[in-house]
Amino acid sequence: MLTGYLQRKASWEILLKVSSGTYSDHALEKVIGNYEFNPLDIAFITELSFGCIRYRKFLDLWIDHLSKLPHKKQPPKLRWLLHIGLYQLLKMDKIPFSAAISSTVEVAKRTDLKGLTGTVNAILRNTVRNIEKDNYPKMSFNEIERLSCLESLPLWLVNEIVNWGGIKEAKNIAKAFNKKPSIDLRINSLKTDLNKFLNELKECNINATVISQLSHGVALNSHPRSIKKLPGYRDGMWVVQDRSSQWVAPLLNPMKGDKILDACSAPGSKTTHLAELANDDAEIIAVDRSEKRLKILQSNLERLNIKSVKTLQADATSLIDIKPNLISYFDKILIDAPCSGIGTLARNPDSRWSLSKDKINQLILLQERLLESIFPLLKKNGTLVYSTCTICPEENNLLIKKFLLKNKEIKLESERQILPRFDRPGDGFYAAKITYK
Ligand SMILES: C[S@@+](CC[C@H](N)C(=O)[O-])C[C@H]1O[C@@H](n2cnc3c(N)ncnc32)[C@H](O)[C@@H]1O
Repeated sequence: MLTGYLQRKASWEILLKVSSGTYSDHALEKVIGNYEFNPLDIAFITELSFGCIRYRKFLDLWIDHLSKLPHKKQPPKLRWLLHIGLYQLLKMDKIPFSAAISSTVEVAKRTDLKGLTGTVNAILRNTVRNIEKDNYPKMSFNEIERLSCLESLPLWLVNEIVNWGGIKEAKNIAKAFNKKPSIDLRINSLKTDLNKFLNELKECNINATVISQLSHGVALNSHPRSIKKLPGYRDGMWVVQDRSSQWVAPLLNPMKGDKILDACSAPGSKTTHLAELANDDAEIIAVDRSEKRLKILQSNLERLNIKSVKTLQADATSLIDIKPNLISYFDKILIDAPCSGIGTLARNPDSRWSLSKDKINQLILLQERLLESIFPLLKKNGTLVYSTCTICPEENNLLIKKFLLKNKEIKLESERQILPRFDRPGDGFYAAKITYK
């Protein structure tokens, strides 16, 4: 009982933190650090709290269906605790209703929601009666609105996805946004190889498999207490990197002696991949506007023992003014642009609630400026890869198309859009490889 109660309490605390602006993964890490949970508890808490964050709209519909007070008028602490209870009843099929209700009510009882224990109990019991009678909240007959409610996505976003690929595609993508994301690692090929690393994981009873079609990718099948406690972390044997993102650096085919610019580089998943592929023997300049994020990149370089990368804090759109000596200097350039991150919504449960069409439009302007201002740093016959972790065409293929129309000396070599899929792991991703002829 006590563990059940503590799991729900921790999950509720995560929702409180996220509602006050903390990112989900930071909130999870902070809260978990205050308890002595085992890996199974952590997996449960992650599923429950991240599920509640993703399904916020759906769970609010249930509050409106069941309670006299609509969700917007509920005291926030009560609203989030109701989400904890409702999510277990509506979305987690392995938890008996009685356990879901009693453990959630216990949180109310033992915290400053004590006076609302009866309300929590009544609403959750009423939910069970409604589930048993198939009495669900009313949802619109309009397919798009219905999808937005069922998959708990802002209506504007569903409208966009439908515009991009039609309703059938949108249903698959929307479902993928609510699945549990994979945990993928990329081994540091300068220090280890796949077999050696998999054996080390096996010795520690960690179930992991090689990711097909990737030369250095490993998928973790069990949930570690702390990713940093996995074997080889301190010794720089690996980094965390989604499998789709591992496609990007190899597109540049980094080689010994190459002069490479990584224009938006922090925290360095792709910079370090570029360096490893070139056997730490290229000349890589890693630029980023954020000092804080560059510090993380720097510590990754140290941990992985990579020597071929120099970091530079700068606005990449003005590199051409700050460092005119870099004009036509690079053989290879990566622009892993700041983007809406729509391909990673499953991984970042809170981001669907902070995104907006306006923010995307601002990002498109920045992406255009980055391409225009960084391109002159590429040598003749050089290669540039532009990548994002979004599936929004205006940030991806349409942006590249516009750029190609304006610059006749550039050739599109290849283009790849990976869509998030419910039945396939991996984030959504886009990459275009262009050459300067
Ligand atoms: C998608 S993230 C890069 C992720 C990184 N390439 C990796 O694989 O770990 C985009 C980065 O662009 C940086 N950024 C945004 N605007 C920038 C600008 N004008 N100049 C340089 N960096 C910028 C952000 O600070 C952020 O670190």
